[in-house]
Amino acid sequence: MKPHTISNDAQLNSNGRLSHLLGLEGLPKNQIEKILDVADDLIDKKGNLQKTKILRDMSVANLFFEPSTRTRNTFEIAGKRTSAKTINVDLANSATKKNETLMDTMHTLKAMQIDMFVIRHKQNGLPHHVAENIKGVSIINAGDGINAHPTQALLDVLTIRQHKKAFDNLSVAIVGDIRHSRVARSGIQAMKTLGTTDIRLIAPETLHYKEETPGLERFDNLDQGIEGADVIISLRLQKERMIAADIPDEQTYFEGFGLTNERLKLAKPDAIVMHPGPVNRGIELSSNVADGPQSVILQQVTNGIAVRMAVMEILAGAF
Ligand code: NCD
Repeated sequence: MKPHTISNDAQLNSNGRLSHLLGLEGLPKNQIEKILDVADDLIDKKGNLQKTKILRDMSVANLFFEPSTRTRNTFEIAGKRTSAKTINVDLANSATKKNETLMDTMHTLKAMQIDMFVIRHKQNGLPHHVAENIKGVSIINAGDGINAHPTQALLDVLTIRQHKKAFDNLSVAIVGDIRHSRVARSGIQAMKTLGTTDIRLIAPETLHYKEETPGLERFDNLDQGIEGADVIISLRLQKERMIAADIPDEQTYFEGFGLTNERLKLAKPDAIVMHPGPVNRGIELSSNVADGPQSVILQQVTNGIAVRMAVMEILAGAF
């Protein structure tokens, strides 16, 4: 599976405003910062999320063709917090099971006057295809194959910004199944645009990118890779996207690439530990790291609501 290259023409209109959020590749820095600023303003000093009425005349449909807990529920909550009418299309019992094509389902939902579609699908580029073929609606990519997961990357950089302020002097270590991770792909694009130059990819050979990645340092040794890091992003093993030969033995994987408290001492003392979830405890992270003082995993979840509210409000034309 090859990642899908998107053109920004597909998501920016002629005035340079976002009309869809499909991916972060090439998205200008000011657009990324605007989303982060709107999201930050939705969180008060105590960390509580605000409610707005910006989408009160709009309907948002969630279409999740792949499993999801955090992304689907935070999109639903974000929609409700902006006063949108949100529906979760029950795909398991929908006409797609009667072989209706996806585009027919989409046209049918559009006829129900849905304004925004949040789409997760295993096929790379599917949200882009929908955006090109259905006019008058906004598409938000909630994860397509191994390609992109823009709102996850945005919530990740929001979390990093809240802890570290600036991006240019950061050392970021991304550990795990990089090859199959849409989170890593979008995250790297966002961090590069925001000015991070020290991005280290740490994985066994089979889980590194096949293609060249100029400017990104590769490691196959966790201890070397996380030395002095400010941010460690651990990734889930995406077994559903691997071929049998790539699937590592979990015990051996944890011994080589699992983040433990002992290993975490190699990073900066104030390093933060992130994971998009779902976490496989004892495989990617030890439980005491996942629940420890340096973990910001639950803050990422809350930030996910703020970022998704911000994206919807911007797409609705509010900012
Ligand atoms: C990620 C995804 O679906 O790509 N999860 C998420 O959105 N929180 C990462 C994963 O499933 O491993």
